[in-house]
Amino acid sequence: MFNAMLQMDLVYVLLAFVWTPRVANADSLPIVITTWYFGLNPTNTAWDELQTPGKLPLDAVQKGCEWCEDNFCSSGVGYGYKPDESGESTLDALVMDGKTHDVGAVGGLRRVQNAIGVARAVMKHTSHTLIVGDAATEFAKSMGFEVMPNASLSNTSDNTYWTWRQNDCQPNFRKNVKPAGKCGPYYPADQPSDFNRRTSFNKRDTREDASKIWDVPGSPSDHDTICVIAIGANKDAAVGVTTNGLRFKVPGRVGDSPIPGAGGYVDNEVGGAAATGNGDIMMRFLPSYHAVELMRHGVSPERAGQDAIRRILKHYPDFNGAMIVVNNKGEYGAACSPGYKTFPYFVRTGDMTNATRVDINCTIPDEPVFPTTTPVSNTPAGTTVTSSATSTSYRHVLCSKTFQWAILVILGGVYCFK
Ligand SMILES: *[C@@H]1O[C@H](CO)[C@@H](O)[C@H](O)[C@H]1NC(C)=O
Ligand SMILES: *[C@@H]1O[C@H](CO)[C@@H](O)[C@H](O)[C@H]1NC(C)=O
Ligand SMILES: *[C@@H]1O[C@H](CO)[C@@H](O)[C@H](O)[C@H]1NC(C)=O
Ligand SMILES: *[C@@H]1O[C@H](CO)[C@@H](O)[C@H](O)[C@H]1NC(C)=O
Repeated sequence: MFNAMLQMDLVYVLLAFVWTPRVANADSLPIVITTWYFGLNPTNTAWDELQTPGKLPLDAVQKGCEWCEDNFCSSGVGYGYKPDESGESTLDALVMDGKTHDVGAVGGLRRVQNAIGVARAVMKHTSHTLIVGDAATEFAKSMGFEVMPNASLSNTSDNTYWTWRQNDCQPNFRKNVKPAGKCGPYYPADQPSDFNRRTSFNKRDTREDASKIWDVPGSPSDHDTICVIAIGANKDAAVGVTTNGLRFKVPGRVGDSPIPGAGGYVDNEVGGAAATGNGDIMMRFLPSYHAVELMRHGVSPERAGQDAIRRILKHYPDFNGAMIVVNNKGEYGAACSPGYKTFPYFVRTGDMTNATRVDINCTIPDEPVFPTTTPVSNTPAGTTVTSSATSTSYRHVLCSKTFQWAILVILGGVYCFK
């Protein structure tokens, strides 16, 4: 009896030995990570919220984003900055909960400053994911948010707007159109000349593609999105994103920020990712979802972000964008397209007393994370697969259940024979 109990104890000890999860660095959680050079205060603000008893990672990311909405984050995040063609700034924002997969988002929100707060209200007070435009303003009003009396035509905040108008609204984001006046309205270029009974179009068309001219560091669009990811000590994860989109965008344009999987994505089982840059292109690839899914399969945060950007560069070699990525062990990294050259972000982990700025060089490996040359499964019968993956280390073998059972049986046997 005594012997049998001892044996059971031994089995438990062995089980514990074999199946203890490998924790990278217990000090890394909790963690807050944010985009761009203005992330110091948002990171510390989110961090403080995360440390407050009863507050969730969701509260933390909301607070971090709100800091930028209230202070314009030095470069012009938020209400009154980066107006569209008509001079009005409209906001996009998203919050996502990695535990429940609940999402709240707003797109093209007009006349309300606290976009991230409205996104949170969408999550909290509706079963919807995304509410847009004028109706989002009505929703915000009913939820008690302050609504400005008129459109935020950008005179105080953004004097480049009037310079741009004087320059016949060049460059802009239209294509294949002809403007009727200097600044539109715009008509499809392939319409017959009596289209809308307008015969003389403004000579200046829209060949200056704004997305190429402005989407570089130091340019006027530099930079208008803040992404905040927070993961608590219990691995609960959340992401928040808020932005005024793109300077001189076509009115009604919604970017990647409020699109789950594009602007941000979190899953408690894995971690989170968020993206900033040319959102019109980035949202076509769901880069945040891409990075989280790669981490799910064991890829490091930095490598996962790089692969998400590599995929986009394959189709749009000139596109610019960057990502912050963190797993639920508190390991983090970032990635950026070569056009940015460098990308700054802020991070604060359990072993830091202040948010810390990290600058990375923008290099993206050409190779995908998982080589696709060798079929992995669905190999037709009779095909010989020659593995090219001999270099993938012993970890794969050592961590396999078969190997661990073998060790257990051998150790158990040794004990019994003793
Ligand atoms: C908005 O309203 C305020 C107060 O009524 C006024 O001072 C301001 O000029 C208005 N702005 C625009 C763009 O109409
Ligand atoms: C903003 O300023 C420009 C010139 O500085 C002026 O032409 C325009 O009417 C002003 N707009 C508003 C809404 O006050
Ligand atoms: C945190 O870091 C920033 C920038 O490095 C610095 O200005 C600030 O004083 C630091 N705060 C504390 C509390 O040490
Ligand atoms: C980035 O590049 C610069 C210049 O080539 C180099 O000095 C710096 O150490 C690099 N930084 C990183 C993080 O690799």
